Amino acid sequence: MNAEESVELEQLMFVEEPMDGDEPRVHPAWLPPEAFRSLGARRVLLHGEGLLVDTVLNEVSRACARYGGRVWHSPSWDVDVDLVLALRDAGELPNPAVEAARAAGEAALVELGDGGTLGDEGFVLARAGDVTAVLADAPAGLLYGLFHVVRLCAAAFDPARPPKRHRPALRRRMLNHWDNVAVHPVMGQVERGYAGGSIFWRDGRPRGDLARVREYGRLLASCGVNAISVNNVNVARTEALLLTERLGDVAEIADVLRPYGIRVHLSVSFAAPVVLGGLPTADPLDEAVRVWWAAATRRVYDRIPDFGGYLVKADSEGQPGPFTYGRDHADGANLLAEALAPHGGVVHWRAFVYNHHQDWRDRSTDRARAAYDHFAPLDGRFRTNVVVQVKFGPVDFQTREPVSPVLAAMPATRVAVELQVTQEYTGQQRHVCHLGPWWSEVLRFTPWGPGGRTIADVVTGEAAAGGGMVAVANVGDDLFWTGHPLAQANLYTFGRLAWDPRADPTAILDEWITLTFPPSATADAELVRRTLHEIMDDSWRTYERYTAPLGVGFMVNPGDHYGPGVDGYEYTRWGTYHFADRDGVGVDRSRASGTGFTGQYPSYWAQVYESPETCPDELLLFFHHVPYGHVLHSGSTVIQHIYDTHFAGVEEVTAMRRKWQALTGMIDMSVYERVAERLDEQVRCATEWRDQINTYFFRKSGVPDERGRDIY
Ligand code: GCU
Repeated sequence: MNAEESVELEQLMFVEEPMDGDEPRVHPAWLPPEAFRSLGARRVLLHGEGLLVDTVLNEVSRACARYGGRVWHSPSWDVDVDLVLALRDAGELPNPAVEAARAAGEAALVELGDGGTLGDEGFVLARAGDVTAVLADAPAGLLYGLFHVVRLCAAAFDPARPPKRHRPALRRRMLNHWDNVAVHPVMGQVERGYAGGSIFWRDGRPRGDLARVREYGRLLASCGVNAISVNNVNVARTEALLLTERLGDVAEIADVLRPYGIRVHLSVSFAAPVVLGGLPTADPLDEAVRVWWAAATRRVYDRIPDFGGYLVKADSEGQPGPFTYGRDHADGANLLAEALAPHGGVVHWRAFVYNHHQDWRDRSTDRARAAYDHFAPLDGRFRTNVVVQVKFGPVDFQTREPVSPVLAAMPATRVAVELQVTQEYTGQQRHVCHLGPWWSEVLRFTPWGPGGRTIADVVTGEAAAGGGMVAVANVGDDLFWTGHPLAQANLYTFGRLAWDPRADPTAILDEWITLTFPPSATADAELVRRTLHEIMDDSWRTYERYTAPLGVGFMVNPGDHYGPGVDGYEYTRWGTYHFADRDGVGVDRSRASGTGFTGQYPSYWAQVYESPETCPDELLLFFHHVPYGHVLHSGSTVIQHIYDTHFAGVEEVTAMRRKWQALTGMIDMSVYERVAERLDEQVRCATEWRDQINTYFFRKSGVPDERGRDIY
């Protein structure tokens, strides 16, 4: 390459680079420019064509412009390089170094076995002499490979690095936005959103900030997410229109996210044929209804050819569904699946179906049983492009719940697990509550007993036909995306676990720390890393300690679900009770004397959970009503455990705040201050939790704290 050519190419590629001194519009989260230093200082050759290859080119060009590296796109001349990113079928290049790198990648694939296919999204990373090679079968694989190189930093160029093939375990790794287009009178712009407004919608219209949506797509692609739904599962009138006359708004988002390999899905109303189509019925077995869905869906694909599919909340908390017509959920889901099938779309049908008009006096109805009772009998009846989307626990995203038995009850159905990245019940992004360890525990759970298949196996499925992983998103138009800057780690961790559900959550957090607070830009990188681990690693358990004890759940303020409200739901219609009285607390869900919920598990856990003697401590009050003097496996009584954990929880939060203070001046001031401010609130709120819970149980039981601490 001669000097002139090189200059021209650079000019071409660097146009998008922002001018020096440009203020970032929003916090860069885990992709600050500094995270690209190692890549950007290299000589990079990219070989291949396609929309996502252009995205890779753009990323590498920006990094190289900043850090002095060079980039060539399929050059027809000889160049010396450090990194080759190539599509395997992109043809030969007249360049010995590149061909050697490609040969090394191919050889690695042969060595690694398995027929050498990488799939739509996989890649292999190998070393050839001084060159690092990333090969992929498809452009998305190159994009994921690029972000892997970014994550590895200098280690990507380590001569001793062994070759490794990377492929996502799950085909669909999806975020559900509970964003409303029109502001909902109670739920606001984003239902259960704790990071400001929506990045997509404002006051009934698209927000129009597509640059921000693009940034979002970039963040998601870099952690492996490849699908999002863009509106709330509770579909009101304005949101219903996204399927028809406002489809253009959805198409705009899809256009912006496509270069990042992200497909757009839509939450639709089951009543759409009535509400939008003017039909007299939405009965899934009615011919006119089927024709309506087929036509509406065809129009969607005309506009958005790679549209992902529909997400449906039906017969749940007031949403319309097939029950209205005496049909079941297989009838309902199959109706939409049939409309989507010719276009390759899927319907994500939620299993969150229960009676939300319960009588608290009636102890026989058990909300925890509902999803299984509705869905398990339907196993085998769903079309292959239906994914039944199951909340990870049987109730509702609590800090601690058993894993939902539905996940193990539908072997002939594609099942997805639904997590909640938005911290509705886990501190609302005002509290540090790193959820990676919790999700990992859920994914590693073996519903058929120790040594058996895991939840990760279930959602991965045989031959990748599982339903994947889905989570409710936690971003908004906040400067830090997630309100609490440390809550960004939950989003990142979700993406990484969805790529590899068996990954170690502490290692993922470590990746996030390195990317977000790059060592090269941090005064004392080890102190920052250590402090963040100390604050975040165990923060979910800390949160558990100062909130509802031993798996009993809820005890939050009704409505906003923030802060303690011990009896907040006790006499309501929602089916979330703790039944505390002067003698004891907890819900009897045994077969012997309770609601029989334990019988929904395969035999190993059905037995373990059945008896208070074998039930794990952390779930005791979910499954059993026990006296305050009941002795736990830990050796403590239930009442003393409640006191001890609540005192400990507040002490831990106070220690978190102290540790954070040691980072003054070490990291970006705005991040420091936002976290500091939220830690103050966490200490306040945890103290309130501690005192209300301890006082409540002291007053109920009359049992004093063994250690004589302050209870009111
Ligand atoms: C929770 C949440 C609701 C949400 C519902 C759901 O109950 O509080 O806001 O609509 O879950 O998952 O559909």
